[in-house]
Amino acid sequence: MGKKERLDKIISNMGYGSRKDVKRFIKDGLIEVNGHIVTKNDIKIDPYIDEIYFNNEKVEYREYIYLMMNKPKGLVSSTDDPMTRTVIDILEDEYLVYRPFPAGRLDKDTVGLLLITNDGKLAHEILSPKKGIDKTYYVEVNGYVEEKHLKKFEKGIVLDDGYRTLPAQMEIIHSDAISKVYLTIQEGKYHQVKRMFESLSMKVIFLKRISMGPLKLDEELKEGEYRELTEEELNMLKRF
Ligand code: URA
Repeated sequence: MGKKERLDKIISNMGYGSRKDVKRFIKDGLIEVNGHIVTKNDIKIDPYIDEIYFNNEKVEYREYIYLMMNKPKGLVSSTDDPMTRTVIDILEDEYLVYRPFPAGRLDKDTVGLLLITNDGKLAHEILSPKKGIDKTYYVEVNGYVEEKHLKKFEKGIVLDDGYRTLPAQMEIIHSDAISKVYLTIQEGKYHQVKRMFESLSMKVIFLKRISMGPLKLDEELKEGEYRELTEEELNMLKRF
C-alpha cells in the first residue's frame, strides 16, 4: 500500500506519455479506475490499491525495478556516456521508463554480475563501504598463482598508490602460466582486482564477477542478457 498520488502523474511516470498526453488520453476516455472511465485528470488514487486500466489493459503499477545483468565486454557501467555504449543502452524500453542505473561498476572489459535498479536506497546500502558486502570474481591471470600468494592477499595488498587493501580471500582453481582463481573482496576501489594482481607483477586477462553478497550470477544468463530478480533474491538482498 502507498499514498495517494495524482493519476496523471502516475500514468506519466510509468512511461505512457507526458502529462499533456495523459490529459488527452483522459479526454478520449482511455483510462479507467476501479471500473469507471476517468473524466478529470487531477484525481488522486492509490496505485497499489486502485485498479487502473489503460485502453482496456490493466496497468501493473510498480515503483522499482531490479535487474540482474551478465554484463558483456565493451559496455560501460553508467547511465550515459558520450563515447561508449552503456549497460543501460541494451535494456528494453519497458525498463527505461523507470530510469534505472547500475548499482556499482564493472570495468569496460569486465563481465558478469551487475545489479541494475532505480531503487537508490537499496543501491546505496549494498554499495556502502560500511556494509563491506562480499564481491567474488572469477579471475584469469598471466602468472603462477601459488599458496604463498594466498597469504599475501589475506594480509592485504599494497596498491600502486600506497593503499593497503583489506584482507581478501582467494581460492586457487588452477595454477599454471595462466592461473585461474576465485577472489573475494569487500571493497570496490578503482580497478581493484587488476591492481591487486599488478602489485604481484601479474596481469589480469579475464575478469568476471560471479556474486555480490547473497546474489549469485544466474548461469543461464549469457553475456549481454538480463532478467528481473526473483522475489527470493530481492528479499535476500533487502535482508542483507
Ligand atoms: N576490479 C577490477 O579491477 N575491475 C572490475 O571491473 C571490478 C573489480
